[in-house]
Amino acid sequence: MRALPHGIAAALHLPPTPDPVAPAILERLLPEERRHAESLGGFRQVQFVGGRIAMGMLFHELGFRRVPVLSDEHGAPRLGSGLVGSISHKQDLVVALMARGGGGLGVDLEETDRDRMSIAPRVLRPEELEAVMALPAERRWCDTVVRFSVKEAIYKALHPFLKRYIGFGEVAVWPSPEGLDRVEPFLGPEEGGYQFEARHVWVGSRVLSSVRVRR
Ligand SMILES: CC(C)(COP(=O)(O)OP(=O)(O)OC[C@H]1O[C@@H](n2cnc3c(N)ncnc32)[C@H](O)[C@@H]1OP(=O)(O)O)[C@@H](O)C(=O)NCCC(=O)NCCS
Repeated sequence: MRALPHGIAAALHLPPTPDPVAPAILERLLPEERRHAESLGGFRQVQFVGGRIAMGMLFHELGFRRVPVLSDEHGAPRLGSGLVGSISHKQDLVVALMARGGGGLGVDLEETDRDRMSIAPRVLRPEELEAVMALPAERRWCDTVVRFSVKEAIYKALHPFLKRYIGFGEVAVWPSPEGLDRVEPFLGPEEGGYQFEARHVWVGSRVLSSVRVRR
């Protein structure tokens, strides 16, 4: 459990195998969550269960009664009123972030251990790519991952408002060394007025991003 600028985060290690989740672990879910978990298989089941257990811990931490966290028709986790929350998983780790209040909240966790600069032209706007390529070669991949991760967190925070696919070219992210990142939106003409607050922190070789969106 860790307090972050955008809320409280809970992280859990996930087992490295896609074996069915043990009944004793499923018992830690609320009945509606358990029913959904039982309909899933493999890593998807492991990730869903991990995310819901982490979310369950956060309700308690924030002093709220725990309610089942199911997904809406777009995949966003649905929380009761007065709370916002978001989930991100990698194969061995899940992170959930929750905060009081309204607006949108997104969290994302990304690895930097394998250089995949080939994705940069797909996830960055031309001016972002230009800025990345102006960096010393050894910094380019980490800078790209930060921008990518913040964009994924933006998607999770903003999608519940826009309810449409948001492309990687619809925002530019300008990372700061202190982790307080600037977001420059390029949304549709009717989609102005959103305020973005974006942060990233390094957890070993991983970047953990969070975004709060308000209108
Ligand atoms: C939806 C998406 C952001 C998920 O990210 P990911 O790196 O694939 O996976 P993560 O493990 O980090 O996140 C998965 C969690 O995202 C959440 N999520 C999925 N769809 C969501 C949505 N529409 N809104 C909010 N949260 C959503 C869910 O909680 C899910 O976990 P769960 O199913 O166990 O509850 C990504 O797959 C995607 O489609 N991106 C679209 C393009 C994009 O990111 N554009 C950025 C421009 S702003």
